[in-house]
Amino acid sequence: MAKEEHKGKTLPQIAGILGIGKFDTHFFICTGPDCCDPEAGLAAWQVVKRTVKALNPNLKTSRIYRTKVGCLRICQSGPIAVAYPQGKWFHHVTEDNAEDIVKYLQSGEIGPHPLEFTEHPLTAPEKDGAKASDR
Ligand code: FES
Repeated sequence: MAKEEHKGKTLPQIAGILGIGKFDTHFFICTGPDCCDPEAGLAAWQVVKRTVKALNPNLKTSRIYRTKVGCLRICQSGPIAVAYPQGKWFHHVTEDNAEDIVKYLQSGEIGPHPLEFTEHPLTAPEKDGAKASDR
C-alpha cells in the first residue's frame, strides 16, 4: 500500500518531498478517544493542518511537521498535543486555539504558552564525544 503520489518513489525520495530533515518542530496532536471526543480532536487537527500550510506553503521549507496520533498516554483534558524538540505539552487543544499554538511554535518563542502543562525538551545526541551544540 502507498499513497498515490508516493507510488514508485524510494523512501529517501518521499522523505525529501516531505521536507524531513529540514523542519525544526514536530507537532503531534491526539485525536482521542480517551482524552477528548474524536470529533473535537479531528476538528483541532484540521486547524493544525490548515495553519501549518498557511504559514509554510512549501513543504520542502516548512518549519513545522504535523502528525495526528491515537494516544499520547495522558488520556484526559485533551486534545493533548506535544511539540519536539521543545518538549512542550499542551492540553485542551481545540479548533479555537490550535492556530494560536501553531503560531506560537513557529515564532520560536521560549516562554510558556498558557495551555502548556509540562516541558521536557530533547537535546541532540552526542556524536564523537561532542554535543551538537558544540559543533
Ligand atoms: S487518548 Fe489522547 S492522550 Fe490518550
